[in-house]
Amino acid sequence: MAEKRSLVTIANLTRDKIMYLIEMAAEFEKHPNRKLLEGKVVATLFFEPSTRTRLSFETAANRLGARVIGFTDPKVTSSSKGETLKDTLMMVSNYADVIVMRHYLEGAARYASEVASVPIVNAGDGANQHPSQTLLDLYSIYKTQGTLENLHIYLVGDLKYGRTVHSLLMAMRHFHPVFHFIAPTELAMPEEYKLYCEKNGIQYVEEQRFDEKSIAEADILYMTRVQRERFTDLMEYERVKNSYILRASMLGRVKPTMKILHPLPRVNEITYDVDDDPHAYYFEQAHNGLFAREAIICDVLGISLEEVKADKTILG
Ligand code: CP
Repeated sequence: MAEKRSLVTIANLTRDKIMYLIEMAAEFEKHPNRKLLEGKVVATLFFEPSTRTRLSFETAANRLGARVIGFTDPKVTSSSKGETLKDTLMMVSNYADVIVMRHYLEGAARYASEVASVPIVNAGDGANQHPSQTLLDLYSIYKTQGTLENLHIYLVGDLKYGRTVHSLLMAMRHFHPVFHFIAPTELAMPEEYKLYCEKNGIQYVEEQRFDEKSIAEADILYMTRVQRERFTDLMEYERVKNSYILRASMLGRVKPTMKILHPLPRVNEITYDVDDDPHAYYFEQAHNGLFAREAIICDVLGISLEEVKADKTILG
């Protein structure tokens, strides 16, 4: 039951389910404050650092009337005494109605959904998946472009370790995108994701050029941070960390409707002069995460879009 309702990977979501969750997020954007989850407990277990994902999930739970328990650092839990992930999840299943978990191991969320008796929401597992980020990305793309169909999406930076780009390309398989993968050779999109594109009829091109001319046709410019924490060789990180930097001076030829997204945090890959440009959308994108995560928590708890629309617990 928990496994069935969990959000572990974006790969399982149908086109209809994605559009359904986008519609639910839009309902929450109209009225974020409700008592829909009164009496529920949401646990946030973060085995890796986070600002946006944890705080927006916790805000989502609080704004819907749930209570929140959890930890932001596994060192303060009994996992530091050797307690296994399985035992930790069994314990927390006794206390909470849903578990939001970020873990450094790829596959940890899948495992959690198999051993926990309550639904699991994957808040990022290693370099693998970040499905709640993808739902907020899709919501942001839909809001700014009016559609998810036939878009040119440029993924820039760390395409090897960036779980957000892996999840996004899987979700977009329903919507006929053309992806442009822009990365240094060391951080190129892994073969498994290129194969995924080929099997699912997703068009892509690989490029290394990144300048005013090369981004002129983009609908979405999705910048990413080079993920220092995933490198085993820090010399390699030093070699590639400044590969692609977006500056305001590069935006002269872009489409008027083009939006710049970034899952954040940024390090240096978008200069501060871009923040005031009308194409910059990354802070609004992070705000959209609140509404997308309200929708996700409700969905895994079995609250339907119809119930959200009919909800009479809206607060001021
Ligand atoms: N985008 C994202 O996952 O941000 P945090 O690491 O701050 O949660």
